[in-house]
Amino acid sequence: MEGFLAGIFKHHADVLEAIIESSYDGLWICDGEGKILKINKASEKINDVSAKDVIGRNVKDLVREGLFDKSVTLEVLKKKKRVSILQTLSNGKTLLVTGNPIFIDGKLEYVVTNDRDITELIHLKEELEESRKTSRKYYKKLQDALKRKGGEETRFIFCSKVMRSIHETVRNVAEVDVTVFLQGESGVGKSRLAKMIHSLSERAKAPFIHVNCGAIPENLLESELFGYVKGAFTGARNEGKPGLVEMADKGTLFLDEITELPLNLQVKLLHFLDSEVVKRVGDTKERKIDVRIIAASNRDIAKYVKMKRFREDLYFRLNIVPIVIPPLRDRREDIPLLIAYFLERFNKKYGKEVTITPEAVDLLCRYSFPGNIRELSNILERLIVMSRKPQIEVGDLPDYVKEDVFVPLETDPSAVPLKTTLKNAVSECERNILKQALTVCRTQQEMAELLGVSQPTIARKLRQHMLESPWKNNGAH
Ligand SMILES: Nc1ncnc2c1ncn2[C@@H]1O[C@H](COP(=O)(O)OP(=O)(O)OP(=O)(O)O)[C@@H](O)[C@H]1O
Ligand SMILES: [Mg+2]
Repeated sequence: MEGFLAGIFKHHADVLEAIIESSYDGLWICDGEGKILKINKASEKINDVSAKDVIGRNVKDLVREGLFDKSVTLEVLKKKKRVSILQTLSNGKTLLVTGNPIFIDGKLEYVVTNDRDITELIHLKEELEESRKTSRKYYKKLQDALKRKGGEETRFIFCSKVMRSIHETVRNVAEVDVTVFLQGESGVGKSRLAKMIHSLSERAKAPFIHVNCGAIPENLLESELFGYVKGAFTGARNEGKPGLVEMADKGTLFLDEITELPLNLQVKLLHFLDSEVVKRVGDTKERKIDVRIIAASNRDIAKYVKMKRFREDLYFRLNIVPIVIPPLRDRREDIPLLIAYFLERFNKKYGKEVTITPEAVDLLCRYSFPGNIRELSNILERLIVMSRKPQIEVGDLPDYVKEDVFVPLETDPSAVPLKTTLKNAVSECERNILKQALTVCRTQQEMAELLGVSQPTIARKLRQHMLESPWKNNGAH
């Protein structure tokens, strides 16, 4: 070996030897016949061979013995030019092997082959590809989520604890295809919540079909829900029609006011929920439908079940995740936030910049809102549209709001001892109400407005109950 190096490079032999050995790539050097003259340490390691076993032997023999499946050296000798191949070894490594011919005086004297272990590189490339795929997937998901999030209709405003817990439940169940049953008074946000569930789910791009079971005449409900075929009944459209259930395929079917569904259709609905197939009216063909069900009711459905007006089995089937949305008066802390939200929304809509006084917000916070959020939204929209002033004040609020303010009682009137006379009990209750009103009003006039009586009556009652008003200028101004 020394002779070989010495023969070629003479006094540079040691330096060359060091360079060859320090190479991270494997190096094979053969003569013009394919006889192995030198392999470095890196090559021993990469190829799992030892130098002493191969040096002096011909690569043709090594290929014949099965040590390698192909030889770049032989290819170079044949083609007399540089050759590169990818080689997979039995130990699982992948090599990029490049053989270079070395001509001396036009004669191919040596072949120098360079083995580069690219297993790691391939690994990294695969990982890179995988992570690119993953990031593409997440990017798409993010875009979808942003698209879904976009709509005004799916914004949900709250700060109360009870709504936070509802919101959390909704976010948790949205992605699962579980049936959700929303209960709550009219205007509490059932429809909005249903849309939100749909838009947060994987079905967001598929249809959201809102069926108001109470709004469709009973005789049309079956064909509206399940569709019909040509000639199914008199008046049926000639070509037939798919039903709302079918139209919601792959999406969400929102069955609103579910208690209004007649008993015969409750049976049909239950059958559909169990079988997931629909048959159009007058049809024999069954169609497989994939929908997520959300049901809602503003009535006490349990009572309907008790009265046998609603099938218990259907109730159980729908009531898998029950969500009860409390009325606005039971979560008054949401009112100021909702006021701010609607002000912003309607100001934008009507190109105005109306604000509201803290007193007016306070009064609204004490109103009972039988129509819940819908009523609050309507009140504010009307006030903004009508407003000629930059600020909404107590006086601008509708009379029915001012007349129906809730004053929390310090003492529960029912806690008045039973032994007392009715007159005394009423008087005690009146005193409590006046005391409460004194804490929230700034004038006798405001108290009069709050309690729906005249200012002189307030003055008289305060005197009668020996209650002092805390205002400096005690009087009606
Ligand atoms: N948390 C909320 N944030 C913002 N707007 C809301 C919220 N909840 C409800 N709304 C709005 O209040 C109005 C009434 O809500 P929604 O229609 O969802 O009530 P509902 O419970 O379905 O009433 P109904 O029983 O009459 O169908 C809608 O305009 C809705 O967008
Ligand atoms: Mg609704």
